Amino acid sequence: MLNVAVLVSGGGTNLQALIDAQERGEIIGGKICRVISSKPGAYALERAAKANIPTSVVDRKRYGSSYDFDDAILFALQNANADLIVLAGFMYILGEKVTKKYEYKIINVHPALIPSFSGKGFYGLRVHQAALDYGVKLTGATVHFVNEHADAGPIILQKSVDIKNGDTPEILQKRVMQQAEWVILPKAVSLFCQDKIEIKDNKAYIKE
Ligand code: GAR
Repeated sequence: MLNVAVLVSGGGTNLQALIDAQERGEIIGGKICRVISSKPGAYALERAAKANIPTSVVDRKRYGSSYDFDDAILFALQNANADLIVLAGFMYILGEKVTKKYEYKIINVHPALIPSFSGKGFYGLRVHQAALDYGVKLTGATVHFVNEHADAGPIILQKSVDIKNGDTPEILQKRVMQQAEWVILPKAVSLFCQDKIEIKDNKAYIKE
């Protein structure tokens, strides 16, 4: 069984999707061993507590530099004995110290079809606002490995979602979560835990 640590910063609906999938027996070969929040009051912590999952807080505000924050995150991950790290609504970019140590072992869910509407500054509702401002008709979600660049590691899974007339960022965010994020994130975690993801030439392939 692989130990899965989940990093969160907010509401934690993606964490909830992982917990629900685990309870349905759909995370094969892995178990959520700890939830680490960058924010003390995050609702995600309550979701973890309700599911009897141990939690830690690494409060971003307590660390001046991102370098010190990365050290604290590393310490928490080592304490949790993490084999896989899932960024589920985690709002900070991890530095090289973390991404190199856990190369191809950190995955992130992004609420757009990378490479669209991704990179520095594209997070949360801003991503959906940007898609609506551009006028694209399709958006979606991406689960990818994390490297030192924002939203740039190998793509594991993507799922598209229609944009409809009259969408607001909030309406679109909900549709993308329901139809894409909550589906592909647990699926990618389960694939990883079954060793079904292969990296070749910095691209991810699902093994048959
Ligand atoms: C989700 O839509 C997630 O994809 C996004 O923030 C939301 C968090 O919701 N993450 C990013 O934008 C990171 N770049 P949640 O806390 O309810 O899972």
